[in-house]
Amino acid sequence: MNPRCAKRYRFPSTALAVFLTQGVSFAQETNANPSIEFSSLIINFGFIALVSLGVYVLVLTIKWLWHSYQEAKEVHAHEAEIEHGAMDPSLNRRSFLSLLGWAWVAFTAASLGAVSGVVRFLFPNVTFEPPLKFAAGFPNTYAIGVDERFKSSHRVWVVREATGFYVLSTICTHLGCTPNWLQAEQKFKCPCHGSGYYITGINFEGPAPRPLERFNITLADDGQIQIDQSIKYQYELGQWGLPGSYLNYKG
Ligand code: FES
Repeated sequence: MNPRCAKRYRFPSTALAVFLTQGVSFAQETNANPSIEFSSLIINFGFIALVSLGVYVLVLTIKWLWHSYQEAKEVHAHEAEIEHGAMDPSLNRRSFLSLLGWAWVAFTAASLGAVSGVVRFLFPNVTFEPPLKFAAGFPNTYAIGVDERFKSSHRVWVVREATGFYVLSTICTHLGCTPNWLQAEQKFKCPCHGSGYYITGINFEGPAPRPLERFNITLADDGQIQIDQSIKYQYELGQWGLPGSYLNYKG
């Protein structure tokens, strides 16, 4: 390859090498850490591609301006002609080629942007929800009252009373905030708009339109409490009396 061409392609080939290296490193990172969302990596990848192209275009622009300046000095003898619109033919050809290069870079950048957008839709955000059905431990590990051990992980309270258990959702029925259990006042209180619920889950103050929901609770064969959040019971629909909404237990 002639040295002039080699010089011209040095930057793009370096940028391409960096781009590919980043790609390989992202791929390795995804393999090493499965919790990293692949879609995020794709977006980062596309972003790096666009930034690389942006830098490339910037460098091309600076080089083009510099060369134009140099050539303008060289064609000082034809200045009068240039002022009257009669450009040096070689300068015209060069400008045209530069313009073509620009158009190609802009087209590539736009295509890459569009492709990143499409790929982004192919890999939607994946949220890793805990299983809806889970073992909640042995009944004798619960004291009478509200147990918050699954509040963060599964968004439920397990309530034990003298005759058995029930499970309450921690989602406020007003706008979905998470109420707090106030032991001294024996109530759930939502910090967002002040809704209050009795320990049973029935709402009694604030804007909440209905009681908290309950979830299915049974005793598994191994003696552990089993909670299934795919089955819910709503008080206002008369479902709190259905089998599975309450676990009778007097151990
Ligand atoms: S979200 Fe709980 S009171 Fe509004």
